[in-house]
Amino acid sequence: MACHFRRVIAEQVSRVLGLPLEKVVRSIRAIPVSKKGGSADFQCFVASVLADGPCNAKPHHQERAQELAGKLVCDSVISEIATGRGTVTFQIRRDLLAETVLRQVIKDGPRYGFNSELLSGLPRGKTIVEYSSPNIAKKFHVGHLRSTIIGNFIANLKQALGNEVVRINYLGDWGLQFGLLGVGFRRFGCEEKLQANPLQHLFEVYVKINAAAEQEENVQLSAQEFLRKLEEGEPQALSLWQNFRDLSIQEYIKVYKRLGVHFDDYSGESFYREKSEDVLRLLEQRGMLQITNKGTGVIDLSEGDLAAHATVVRSDGTSLYITRDLAAAADRMEKYNFDEMIYVTDKSQEIHFQHLFRILTLMGCKRAEGCRHVPFGLVQGMKTRRGNVVFLEDVLDEARSRMLHNMAMSKTTKELEDPSDTAEKLGLAALIVQDFKGQLLSDYHFDWDQALQSRGDTGVFLQYTHARLHSLQRMWDTGELNDFDAACLQDPPAVSILQHLLRYDEVIYKSVEGLQPKYLVNFLLGLGHLAAVAHRTLHVKGSPPHVAQARLLLFNCVRVVLASGMKLLGITPVIKM
Ligand code: ARG
Repeated sequence: MACHFRRVIAEQVSRVLGLPLEKVVRSIRAIPVSKKGGSADFQCFVASVLADGPCNAKPHHQERAQELAGKLVCDSVISEIATGRGTVTFQIRRDLLAETVLRQVIKDGPRYGFNSELLSGLPRGKTIVEYSSPNIAKKFHVGHLRSTIIGNFIANLKQALGNEVVRINYLGDWGLQFGLLGVGFRRFGCEEKLQANPLQHLFEVYVKINAAAEQEENVQLSAQEFLRKLEEGEPQALSLWQNFRDLSIQEYIKVYKRLGVHFDDYSGESFYREKSEDVLRLLEQRGMLQITNKGTGVIDLSEGDLAAHATVVRSDGTSLYITRDLAAAADRMEKYNFDEMIYVTDKSQEIHFQHLFRILTLMGCKRAEGCRHVPFGLVQGMKTRRGNVVFLEDVLDEARSRMLHNMAMSKTTKELEDPSDTAEKLGLAALIVQDFKGQLLSDYHFDWDQALQSRGDTGVFLQYTHARLHSLQRMWDTGELNDFDAACLQDPPAVSILQHLLRYDEVIYKSVEGLQPKYLVNFLLGLGHLAAVAHRTLHVKGSPPHVAQARLLLFNCVRVVLASGMKLLGITPVIKM
């Protein structure tokens, strides 16, 4: 019997209240294990289902809950109906809990949760996620790392929901930094070093020429001259620029691969120099462009809740960051006809994106409403052997080598084929979990020792849980085992796990709604802790065969959900550590 409890409950409530099912489904929640106290499995929020205000318990909600509960009856699924504070609570028949949840995991496998009716009303369609977007020759700082992993998570999530996802990296590949780089390369550049380690060499050249520019005025002038040549498309300048860009991208791809991240398109600001002019013309035609007495072109944004204006053209006629973003949005509209576009950057760019979206709306861009900025806070204290983060590679190396060290110190470390590869996956999991645990917008202090701990709420703990569950399956070599006696899964630790798994679709729903990974991370950490308790108490070894079999199946289902959630986060689960 493949019934969704949520649906069964919602059907009855919607019948009694005469309300549409989709609406009722959304006001029914699985009760979190910790707060449950063993009394009920689901609760229906009366206030939200009746849509008469926020779902806090007002006195009349209590009456209504009682009134509603009085009309509902227990059936083949629901064994108990009671009322809480403004809610009606439902208990599922104990024998059905294990049967239904585990059957569903077996049937859906890694897609468990994604087929829930709770998610069926979410908009699908084409989603662009723009993330990472470092600036060539400049630092790849922690903000870029955050953008990379957060964007990857959002893209994974949208894809799992069935959206068609386009992953774009919008490089900072134009502007005065290239003027400086052009001049700097002539003075400090070395072709061999460029080939051997382009990112590092370009950064070195950039640092040197910046220092020189502070001393010598003519360096600035030559840089402007070089940029002018670039803007005019002078072949020699352009080919040098192209070479810097190509070599950098090749290098980025390698490092992204270590992270398990890829892009469908390496775009960049350089693409939109000319298209920016089209945008400016359009703004002018529409009468939106105002020229200030300093000669800059601005757009009045004072009508909405935004202050003042946005500058879109300098007095010398050149475009700005926002002008290129306007052109890029228009171009993506044409090229992809997207339904939504998500930009992931640190919160210092919040105003920039507010302005961008507002101008797009004023320009009548039909998808302006589908544009969304996901801002995140600053990370303090992330240092590597070389000091502050300059290259992504350094962060990954640091995580890996620290992890290798911890593994060598730990007595429980298994014999591994490729310890360095395992260390890389553990280190990455640690970085991701540390970063995703809180609200994205909050700043946080990074601490290697804390992030890499093997116990507690860390990525290493998730990996450890996965490896342990995997080895359990391997040890018993269960193969395709699908038959089990649900009556053997009535012990509290098993019930808690099942109860926790009931919430997975809600966790996915909240994650998409808020585009925040913390719900999923905390769900998985919770699952890991429940699995640890079950592991200690629900032995496989020494139990009668049918009990052992049921328990193994339960553990396997936990592993399947854990692995699928970890992959969404961008973590590759290890099977041994
Ligand atoms: N390259 C920019 C930076 O490092 C981020 C680009 C964000 N995306 C955009 N469409 N503006 O700050």
